Amino acid sequence: MPLKSKPAGRLISFEGSEGSGKSTQISLLAAHLQKLGKEVITTREPGGTEIGEQIRNIIVHNSKGDEMCPETELLLFTAARAQVVREVIVPALIAGKFVLSDRYLDSSTVYQGIARNLAADPVAQINRFAVGNVMPDITVIIDVPTEVSIARLKQRVTDLPDRMERENIDFYNKVREGYLLLAKNMTDRVILVDGTKPIAQVAKAIWEHVQLRLGL
Ligand code: TYD
Repeated sequence: MPLKSKPAGRLISFEGSEGSGKSTQISLLAAHLQKLGKEVITTREPGGTEIGEQIRNIIVHNSKGDEMCPETELLLFTAARAQVVREVIVPALIAGKFVLSDRYLDSSTVYQGIARNLAADPVAQINRFAVGNVMPDITVIIDVPTEVSIARLKQRVTDLPDRMERENIDFYNKVREGYLLLAKNMTDRVILVDGTKPIAQVAKAIWEHVQLRLGL
């Protein structure tokens, strides 16, 4: 279902490296918005739908995943996104809800385009095809240095690190640089926050920006 006109709802995407604190900040922003009486849903990429979860499994946990080529990875991530946009995001926006998305198209731009070196034009085109005209009203990029990101990842109580998390430090440095570049080039929709600050301070910076930008 494409969007024919500007919907009543708002889409806010969260981006950043692993361990940058996206999910914590999404919960805090959701609570803040709900206190104002707004209806909020959260979605996560690349899952969020049954089809998306199946695609996510192929990408993240496939035992042969290390051999997946970047082009396949891009198409799988964007396929999952195409589904969540039409199945979940658009209906919610039309119903006037706030949609908080844990990752969106900028993850493909940065992880597959910049970190995995796929050419920028096809990545942008495929991303556009996947999301249609459903662009975020605001994108929050939470920046943390690579060492902080890796240290936080190690503290997570998980079993084996998944495929993406086994990437080396160069890869994560490229991811970070990619996000910083986006923040510099897309000031109309991106807000960059320092994820090394205390949680409450990061939340306050995000809230002030959202309030101002959306006139809440
Ligand atoms: P996930 O466990 O959701 O990580 P996180 O909690 O950091 O969001 O795994 C998603 C992984 O997939 C993460 O390493 C980023 C990567 N990814 C891409 O490479 N491209 C994409 O388009 C998306 C949505 C995620």
